[in-house]
Amino acid sequence: TAIHLADYRPPNYLIDEVHLSFRLDPGATRVISRIRFRANPEGLDDGNLILDGEKLRLVEARIDGSPLTALDYLLTDTHLTVPAARLPGDSFVWEAEVEIAPRDNTALEGLYMSNGMYCTQSEAEGFRKITFYPDRPDVMAPFTVRIESELPVLLSNGNQTSQGPGFAEWHDPWPKPAYLFALVAGDLRPVSDRFTTMDGKEVALNIWVRPGDEDRCGYAMDALKRSMTWEENVYRRAYDLDIFNIVAVDDFNMGAMENKGLNIFNSKYVLASPETATDRDFDFIERIIAHEYFHNWTGNRITCRDWFQLCLKEGLTVFRDQQFTEDMRSAPVKRIEDVLQLRTRQFREDAGPLAHNVRPDSYIEINNFYTATVYEKGAELIRMLRLLVGVEAYDQALQLYFDRHDGQACTIEDWLAVFEDVTARDLSQFKRWYTQAGTPHVTVREHFEDGTYRLTLRQTVPPTPDQPLKEPAVIPVAFGLLSPAGIETHPTRIIELVDPETTIVIDGLAERPVPSLLRGFSAPVILDHAPSFEDRALLLAHDTDPFNRWEAGRSLARETLLAMLADGTAPAPAFLDGLARLAADETLDADFRALALALPSEDDIAQGAVDAGLVPDPTAIHATRKTLKETIGRHLKPTLDALYEAMDPGPVYSPDAGQSGKRALRNAALGLTAHLDAGERALAHYEAADNMTDQLAGFGCLLDIGDPDIATRFHDQWRDDRLVMDKWFLLQIAHAAPEKAVALAETLTGHPLFDWKNPNRFRSLVSGLTVGNPAGFHDPSGAGYAFLADWLIRLDRLNPQTAARMSTAFETWKRYDADRQALIAAELTRIAGTDGLSPDLSEMIARIRA
Ligand code: ARG
Ligand code: ZN
Repeated sequence: TAIHLADYRPPNYLIDEVHLSFRLDPGATRVISRIRFRANPEGLDDGNLILDGEKLRLVEARIDGSPLTALDYLLTDTHLTVPAARLPGDSFVWEAEVEIAPRDNTALEGLYMSNGMYCTQSEAEGFRKITFYPDRPDVMAPFTVRIESELPVLLSNGNQTSQGPGFAEWHDPWPKPAYLFALVAGDLRPVSDRFTTMDGKEVALNIWVRPGDEDRCGYAMDALKRSMTWEENVYRRAYDLDIFNIVAVDDFNMGAMENKGLNIFNSKYVLASPETATDRDFDFIERIIAHEYFHNWTGNRITCRDWFQLCLKEGLTVFRDQQFTEDMRSAPVKRIEDVLQLRTRQFREDAGPLAHNVRPDSYIEINNFYTATVYEKGAELIRMLRLLVGVEAYDQALQLYFDRHDGQACTIEDWLAVFEDVTARDLSQFKRWYTQAGTPHVTVREHFEDGTYRLTLRQTVPPTPDQPLKEPAVIPVAFGLLSPAGIETHPTRIIELVDPETTIVIDGLAERPVPSLLRGFSAPVILDHAPSFEDRALLLAHDTDPFNRWEAGRSLARETLLAMLADGTAPAPAFLDGLARLAADETLDADFRALALALPSEDDIAQGAVDAGLVPDPTAIHATRKTLKETIGRHLKPTLDALYEAMDPGPVYSPDAGQSGKRALRNAALGLTAHLDAGERALAHYEAADNMTDQLAGFGCLLDIGDPDIATRFHDQWRDDRLVMDKWFLLQIAHAAPEKAVALAETLTGHPLFDWKNPNRFRSLVSGLTVGNPAGFHDPSGAGYAFLADWLIRLDRLNPQTAARMSTAFETWKRYDADRQALIAAELTRIAGTDGLSPDLSEMIARIRA
């Protein structure tokens, strides 16, 4: 059943303190709770005590020490309700003992086991699978936790207060909602360090891993210390406990979790060594460590009133981790990468049946709303706010937010109010960004006459599910003007679009200017603008805004590909020459040049075709992209060969931006030319590689070329390394010839190392096909669709959350031709008709079909 934002009611009872005792046992863990409740003056008149609880065996319950009988409460599959008449008064102590079986918990939500270790995932609604509790974020309380187990390491939130043989006790003084609760127990080893906060507090830092993984934690620890320093310098927020623990877990549904003082991570976002992790992996580790750490203030100290407000903590924290990375690495490169992600994942979501507001109005399963829209578009809204009010007002608003709302569970209204109070600006129109789904289009018209330039911008938002009509939003468009000679005559200024149509007039110009619009991607919109080839070439060569330089090149590449697709038009020599010039331009950073050389992905081209009013053919897109890649390789060969030689990052590996940029450019050069010598250089590169970035670059080229032995060689080298073997599964399928990809995926599901209960392994194999090999997934036979449907149905019985998430591979189905649509529709019907489907997957399939 759907839950609606409009139905929010405050809780009947608040909590003063919580005591939990765990007697850990794989098949029969006892959880004993002692909770002091107090009536909420703002609660409902009925005064009933409503506790969430799922899959719990209730052993006994007491109120103020008196045992309850079955007549004293109402128990359903999801709730335990004690009617007001059975409660002693406005404040009382609830005690309960329940039994749960972590060993049998394959959903990886609540308390579960991974490789003999106990761990938890409480967000969003996992705590109700641990004990009876008002499992909602607006109930915050200090927790005291006792863990009894023979395992050597026993961890929970907060500071450790005592410890002895077979037990440990933890106290978290900061009131928190249940979704931030965590417990870990296992045979773990620490990698330790310390940090002194700006207010002189000594903090012990530990990263806990399985024995043998200790030497892969250095980068994560360094990233943590840099995050703590940055947070103090930029947001003036310090850490607030004596200890900060991070645990790496192999079986985890998501990336990581910000539990207070005890962050739990998917091991792939903690463990790294040069030999086993790519530059990209290091980059992710840095950013996710930062993200979870930043949640300590934006999420934990100030949390969400209800799950509709998820973007309050996620959008803000993503924006903050983006700022951090911009400061640690190259800001323009980071911006381009973020926009690429946004367009690939969020624009795609916004354009299809799963489109929803950054703040949704309703949901069935909240886990289905941890989306690119809530996270990445949510971050874009904060970036726009900062641009609109200015850096200083933004900083003031954030300090006011921290002062005013520390310890509270808040809403988007609270968030916008601090900006309104600091700036005296009315943000009611801006708020539409939170309440309207869909990506706005901004259409551009230009007129130049007698030295006067008129720029007219018109905004529209296409209809999305349940939202046929849209109101204009506030769209900041950063723009500048260049002369036809490529000189910037008008530096960046911001036009705020508030009306459906806005015209800017600039006069006194000697010549027709070339506009550079939406600099830095100043708003998450689609710009409908078709500048001439010459204008784009000029921007590519001369714009002062690095984002728009890249964007100009990107749009030329997209247009080239679409023209090749439409009628086989060969790439224009000017395009290829421009690319060569950019690649060789030593005034540009290597990582920027690597990005400029990367072609749009097959999915981007498919979306480009849709935007151009065409029906995309994944098979043709794959072939065309390959042809363009080969053409570029041939045409740029001397430049690329020179880059390959010049971009040697040196003998000692470091994952920093400078070195990783060189590797990226070198590997781009390798990738574009590998077919020209039948893989000879790629093989030498593979064999000489002393790090995973280079090894994988060679591996990918050799797979493309069809080297018959390379997969086995890689396998034999890395068979014992879980994280590296995830890459092996993914890349083989992603680089398979489309007509062979599904069969290969099928074969690999029979491989002894394919453990489909491990989310990382499952995702590697399945998304190797659905994301990595679109032409294979969309094979005209429909085999790819049947493969995905079979596995979703199978996984759903064990792990609904991951199954639901993987179903988004079908979200673009309406893009394709009638035959493909019919094949997909049949699979969606088959999934929907499966007995006992989880609410998670059925909600997703219903929305995708609608
Ligand atoms: N709050 C976590 C983060 O963004 C994500 C946890 C999501 N987990 C889930 N089961 N929905 O850092
Ligand atoms: Zn987060």
